[in-house]
Order: sequence, then C-alpha cells, then structure tokens
Amino acid sequence: VHVIVVCGGTGAEHDVSLSSAESILEHLDSAVYRATRLIIGRDGRWLDGDGEVLPGLAEAVAVLDSADVVFPIIHGTLGEDGTLSALLDLCSAPYVGPNVRAGAVSMDKHLTKLLARDLGVRVAPGILLDTEDPDVLDTLPGDLRAPVFVKPNQEGSSFGVSRVTDLAELDKAVAHAAEFDRHVLVEQEVQGREIDIAVLDNPDGSLTVSAPLEIRVGSAAEFFDTESKYVAGNAEFLVPAPIPEEWTGRLRQASLRLYRLLGCTGTARFDYFVDDQGEPVLNEINTVPGLTARSQVPRMFQALGTSYSELLDILIRTAMT
Ligand code: DAL
Ligand code: MG
Repeated sequence: VHVIVVCGGTGAEHDVSLSSAESILEHLDSAVYRATRLIIGRDGRWLDGDGEVLPGLAEAVAVLDSADVVFPIIHGTLGEDGTLSALLDLCSAPYVGPNVRAGAVSMDKHLTKLLARDLGVRVAPGILLDTEDPDVLDTLPGDLRAPVFVKPNQEGSSFGVSRVTDLAELDKAVAHAAEFDRHVLVEQEVQGREIDIAVLDNPDGSLTVSAPLEIRVGSAAEFFDTESKYVAGNAEFLVPAPIPEEWTGRLRQASLRLYRLLGCTGTARFDYFVDDQGEPVLNEINTVPGLTARSQVPRMFQALGTSYSELLDILIRTAMT
C-alpha cells in the first residue's frame, strides 16, 4: 500500500508537522506500507520526498493521484483548516483525517466553542475580536477581569498565545496574537486541571475513545505554551489521567457528541480544563493532532493497548474503506 504523507505547510506549525511526519514514517509497518513524503515548503512550493521542488500544483496533484491513500499531517494553516482536504476531495483521493467542514470549523476556536455551548458543554467565557477594526479594544466587555488568555483564533501549538495578568498589557498581547491571525480571542482564564482525550473511528464505523491524559506543566512555564509542548522535560503527561471514572465518563460523552456533530473522521483530540467538581470545560479541538513521538495522541491510545503502529494502521484502513 503506497501512502503519501503530506507535511510542512506555510503556517507557524511547519516544523511540528515535519516532526509528526517523521514519527509516522518511522512507525508505519513497512511490511504493509510503502511511505513517501510530499512537502509544502514555508513559501508554499511543493517538494517531493527527495526535497526536489515540483514545478507547480499540477505536478503535486499528479503525485497525490499515484497514492493508494494520502496521510495529511499539516497542522493549522493549509492542512488542518480544511484546505488540503478540499484538494484531496477534488482529486477523489482517499485520505486520513478531517473533511473540509470538520477541519475548517474545528480550526476556528470561537466557532467551536459556540457549537459546544449549544450541546451543553461548558467553555471559557470569551470574545472574538477583529483586529482590523481600529476601535477593537472598545468592544471588550467592561467587566473583563484578569487573568485572561489572548489567542489567535485559528492557530495551533500555542503560537501567539499570551496569559495576561494586568489588563494594561492587553493591547500588546492582542497585537502579538494578530501577527498569527487577524481574528483574536480574549478568554477568561479557567481554573482547572488540563486533560485531553481523543476519539478515533475504526474501519467498521465504530468509535474508540482513548484514555484521558493529564498535562502537568513545569513551574518554569505559566501555561502549556509552545516551549512546554516541544522541549523535552518541560511538561509531564499522566496517562491515564488520575481522575475518577465519573469524570472520564463526562469527558467521553462530551467528546463523542462533538466528534459526531462536527462529522470528524480519523482521530481528533479534545482539550479540556476540568474543575474541582469534575466538570469539563472545552478548550479546543484538534482534528490533525500532533503525532510526534512526544505527542499526546499516541500515548493516549497506547494506554488502551493500541501501539503507535497499530493506531496508524487503523487510521489508514479507515480512510481506505
Ligand atoms: N496543534 C498541535 C500539533 C496539536 O494540537 O497537537
Ligand atoms: Mg490546537
């Protein structure tokens, strides 16, 4: 089976994507799969597995057409946001991961929260700003209290995210987030433990929910920021998360509902804060979650007895059904 792993991209998560791709190539069962890479450079040019620049999109499409299945692992811009899914739909290529709608909607943190709230899943109070509006800061609610989180609405790996403890610093944080996305989210900080859980669809159409994973951030970081995510030793993962069965039940139920409502396919990781009563507050959904050797998702399924290689096998077989 020829798998083409599409990675890189023009977004801030380019390097994360390359690491995820490397881990996938390492863990694919070589007795079943022959894998090659197709890379989108930071400048948007396509490169083949040998790093040769392809003349244009037509040549990239021809390469994609030659695959039995495509495994896109571009986080954020040009991938997770539905862009690549659209191209693959137009090529009628089977692929792992979200369709256009699931990818595009989940990439929009604010929209995702509105949908979750409709389902009765709690979310952090927050407001979406258009930073091209010159009076943007006047639209903030008067009762906003620090600490708040300021985030690019459509970004990943915590790029552009700040925790603001003094509202006098808010304009700087908004300007920083706006370097990544014109639309910026200002959210009230949620008190709670940080717990992730993932859902996976199987070739027979059934869904598997992973073990929950708790993130404990080292004292050097204020939150689970980019450095904690990718520098070894800065954060600790506890899998399964040491929480009561009942709390896990609530996480499972909320995540399954969201997965179905969004029409997700492949695996999606749901990131929550859980308060001291065990009530989940949804932070965000990742439809192309990190698959580096250090990432949460492989660890969360490993805790159920599904190895990283088996997880990849399930993802690919499901995509091909
Ligand atoms: N956006 C990163 C890759 C993640 O959610 O894992
Ligand atoms: Mg994310």
